Amino acid sequence: MVHLSTVANDNVAQKPLVEGMEKIKFRQDEDDQTVSVYGSRYAEQELPAHEMPEEQMPKEVAYRMIKDDLSLDGNPMLNLASFVTTYMEEEAEKLMAEALPKNFIDYEEYPQTADIQNRCVAMIARLFNAPTNESEDNSMGTSTVGSSEAIMLGTLAMKKRWQNKRKAEGKDYSKPNIVMNSAVQVCWEKAARYFEVEERYVFCTEDRYVIDPEECVKLVDENTIGICAIIGTTYTGEYEDVKAINDLLVKQDIDCPIHVDAASGGFVAPFVVPELEWDFRLEKVISINVSGHKYGLVYPGVGWVVWRSPEYLPKELVFNINYLGADQASFTLNFSKGASQVIGQYYQMIRLGKNGYRAIMSNLTRTSDYLAACLEQLGFILMSKTGGQGLPLVAFRLDPAKGHHYDEFAVAHQLRERGWVVPAYTMAPHSEKLKLMRVVVREDFSRSRCDTLIKDIKLAVDTLNKMDKDKVEQHVEHVKKHTKHGKKKGVSQNKHYENEKYSLQGKSGKASQPPSPFLPRTNPFVRIY
Ligand SMILES: Cc1ncc(COP(=O)(O)O)c(C=O)c1O
Repeated sequence: MVHLSTVANDNVAQKPLVEGMEKIKFRQDEDDQTVSVYGSRYAEQELPAHEMPEEQMPKEVAYRMIKDDLSLDGNPMLNLASFVTTYMEEEAEKLMAEALPKNFIDYEEYPQTADIQNRCVAMIARLFNAPTNESEDNSMGTSTVGSSEAIMLGTLAMKKRWQNKRKAEGKDYSKPNIVMNSAVQVCWEKAARYFEVEERYVFCTEDRYVIDPEECVKLVDENTIGICAIIGTTYTGEYEDVKAINDLLVKQDIDCPIHVDAASGGFVAPFVVPELEWDFRLEKVISINVSGHKYGLVYPGVGWVVWRSPEYLPKELVFNINYLGADQASFTLNFSKGASQVIGQYYQMIRLGKNGYRAIMSNLTRTSDYLAACLEQLGFILMSKTGGQGLPLVAFRLDPAKGHHYDEFAVAHQLRERGWVVPAYTMAPHSEKLKLMRVVVREDFSRSRCDTLIKDIKLAVDTLNKMDKDKVEQHVEHVKKHTKHGKKKGVSQNKHYENEKYSLQGKSGKASQPPSPFLPRTNPFVRIY
């Protein structure tokens, strides 16, 4: 786990990088504030890592030292593991930078920003075909930090609505459950565990990586708060058949709502396959989330969640607060947050318009189809959909019939040497014997960079073909050592939480997100995006 950091004990914190160095005394020159950054004493000292320094340092030095430290991070443009936006126009960046000091929650002080959020919610709700007839209650929504927060809110709303219904019927309301695919992103496990809802999984098989609608509906009972259906799974990008689930529920007269996790597909499907019915056009779909920072084309973190009508968002979850003189209805997990991302989302939506999004998403789909075709020609097996039937990503694996003496992880490590971050990972539980690799085609992944990647994949495979088995293993070890960043004297492993047995990953070794090739395969916390 990368973000839950362990605080080093004194023994580790005070240990020198190289044993014995603590005994060597270096001459300390008096510092002269006017010398250059690299002539100052800071350039020959370690950057503080454990104790906040007693003294200040000049701003130029602090800037340069941190910038230099960060230069060992990967290049975001070459990070093909992540869905998250790595490019925005300068004008968008300028607007976002100007909004950095604004606290989004302070509606009284920044009413225009609040209004901009409402415009975004309206546009996204209409994009998802939310009912807008006067005869129906208005749909509603809010911005969030990302899809994870949006999904937490969606889960809470489904749980509370189910509880209220059970209470009104005088029935037991202590055993809620939620039905979902075992290929869900980790945030669904979090939501279920944090809010005490039993997780009911429809497992993937060796040749089905999306939810089986029949099996899914069979798992529903009177304690089911809802079904999660995914528009663009994290593993293969495939769209789940929300319509089939909806139609089965309607046919069997089952009162169970569907929440669609459109984290990645929410800004793709409406433009590439507008005829695909997965959204509020389906009567059982009551809420949808989308990540603004994925194909919504905004830097992290912004997400959105929309409910079909207030009926699905129980009143007791919404807080009406009078903050700094203005009444506001709030349903979020966090209170304060930056306003920049919401403003960035509005910029993208009015700057690009539907035509702009359509042009970008169609290009990405064509590029990913081209990459898929090239990889098939090179002998790989394709595991993702083409022609817009899934997200613009390519999931692929080595052909086992060819008896390679290396695996997908070795190919990923080989590509890492050129700077490409292309993750290798195992499929969801019950199909975890399958190893695969995934390239996410993002806005800044043009056809010419795609060609460079293809050349490098060819080269990687040629190199591995020429190595014997031992050499491949030695090589993988070598790359692992060199990419284990942040471990200097460090304790970046969370030993206390190793070998947990609660999550799908803990129980089965599932990686809810393709891990980065930065991390060794044995790392128990491989979900890093
Ligand atoms: C299907 C799906 N749902 C939810 C999430 C979580 O989204 P976020 O990173 O915006 O919290 C992801 C992230 O990759 C995802 O792919």
